[in-house]
Parts: sequence; C-alpha cells; structure tokens
Amino acid sequence: MLKPQVEDILVKQIEKEAYSSNLYLAMAVWAETNGFAGVADWMYAQADEERLHMLKFVKYVNERGGKGVIPAIEMPPVNFESVLDLFTKTMTHENFITESINEIVGVCMEQRDFNTLQWTQWFVNEQIEEERNVSSLLDKLKMIGDSGTLYFFDRDIMAIRAAASAANAAQ
Ligand code: FEO
Repeated sequence: MLKPQVEDILVKQIEKEAYSSNLYLAMAVWAETNGFAGVADWMYAQADEERLHMLKFVKYVNERGGKGVIPAIEMPPVNFESVLDLFTKTMTHENFITESINEIVGVCMEQRDFNTLQWTQWFVNEQIEEERNVSSLLDKLKMIGDSGTLYFFDRDIMAIRAAASAANAAQ
C-alpha cells in the first residue's frame, strides 16, 4: 500500500507526463504545418513516449493500492518562433521533468518507500537519456543557425528517428 505522500506525488506526475505528451503533440503539429516533416515525426514519437510514461505511473499507482487519477490537462502553446525555439522549449521542459522526478525520489526516501524508490530509477535513467538526446539536437541547431540549412537538419532528424525505430524493432 502506498503512503499518501507518495501516492500524491505520483498522481501529480501523471498530470505532468500527460502535459508533456500534449506539448510534444502541439510541437509536432507546428512542425508539420510549417514544412518540417522530420521534426514533426520526432515530436509525434516523443508524444507517444510521454503517453507511455503517463501510463506507467497510472498502472503503478493502481497496482500498489492507490488510484491513478486522470487529470484535466492545461492547453499547450500553439505557436512557436522557430525550430530552435521548439527544441529550446523541449530542453526547458525536460529539465523541469527531471526536477520533478528528483522530487519523487526525495519523497520516497523521506517516507522510506524503497520499492517506489527503486521503481522510479527507470525514470531517473530515462531523463538522463532524454536530456542527452535533446541537448545533442540543440547543439546541431546552434551550429547551423535558423537558416536555409534547416532543410538538412530536418532530413538528419528523420534519419535519426528511422535508425531508432529500426533499433527498437530489432530488440
Ligand atoms: Fe516523461 Fe520526457 O519525460
């Protein structure tokens, strides 16, 4: 049985993961309607991953005797300035999510809930990976600037996604 403090922070994370999914969906729509098919593809895949994260929290809370409450979700932004703006905001958001995962770790330690602490480790690792991926895309973007060469970035990111899908399929 989860302690109320642990259940409470896990339920709050359901909302954050659901918002993340919708935020990346909104970014995918912006990219798709502005001619960046590769960026859109990356964002759609990211949105799917965030939905899976949300489901992991829902199911864990339910399995441990709590209730994974499904929240109302704030509307994400519709307009972005550029592809660089999109990924800068993605990085800021992932830093925020990392911070909230760290808060969960803190509550688990305070409450001596070592099962949930161990379970949360998957998300600690996932955040390291997500921040690394976004950071390397941001580095590329800063190198090329918001210029005509964005066409090549769009093709590049499409190739990265295709390689990731192939690697997943092979697992
Ligand atoms: Fe579910 Fe990107 O954090």
